[in-house]
Amino acid sequence: MPTHVLDHPLAAHIITHLRDQTTKPATFRTLAYQISLLLAIESTADLPTEDKVIDTPLEKMTARVLAHQPLVVVPILRAGLGMVQPFTDIFPDVSVGYLGLERHHETAVARNYYCKLPPLAGKRVFVIDPMLATGGSAAQALTVVKQHGSVNPTLVCIVASPEGVAEVEKNHPGTTIHTAALDRTLNAKKYILPGLGDFGDRLYGT
Ligand code: PRP
Ligand code: URA
Repeated sequence: MPTHVLDHPLAAHIITHLRDQTTKPATFRTLAYQISLLLAIESTADLPTEDKVIDTPLEKMTARVLAHQPLVVVPILRAGLGMVQPFTDIFPDVSVGYLGLERHHETAVARNYYCKLPPLAGKRVFVIDPMLATGGSAAQALTVVKQHGSVNPTLVCIVASPEGVAEVEKNHPGTTIHTAALDRTLNAKKYILPGLGDFGDRLYGT
């Protein structure tokens, strides 16, 4: 499966500060924005472009612009909300769908509690969720967006575990995953190691 890990010194720098347990929510939110901006750029590197004839101040030229293909970003609530703004900042016409999934504290099985998605057929869909741990939430999210018409949705996360990547591949073979870090493993409570703890709690100070 194509799993792309961000390879950039700035990404490494940001991830380190996200992991640091002394980082407070205000800084954590800024760092989440910054790393998600890098991921938004990286995960859209294959968007199609088309010719456009323009006049520069000096001469006419044939240049490239993004081809018209509707984009949809689907954050998994609640932590995925911390990744939305970079996508809407650089793609002003992007649509945003919402999917609420919450892991059970004991079983780590995700429960679907909210879904508001536009029609997804013919659109390029990015499911965004910072943590890919067991992969249960992501696999469920990919199933839901496919039920709404998405073909080949892309998964974008900040920290992934090998177990999560394998679970996505098992349920949705061939899914492209973009992550800023691929960590070692999960602990007994299904948290990513070394990870950064509970992303939603750190983002919102809960
Ligand atoms: C976290 C995270 C993912 C999920 C990953 O959300 O944001 O959605 O866990 O774990 P998984 O790969 O094992 O499914 P959580 O359920 O804690 O909800 P929250 O975003 O509301 O904090
Ligand atoms: N959710 C998180 O926020 N962090 C983890 O390590 C696993 C799931």
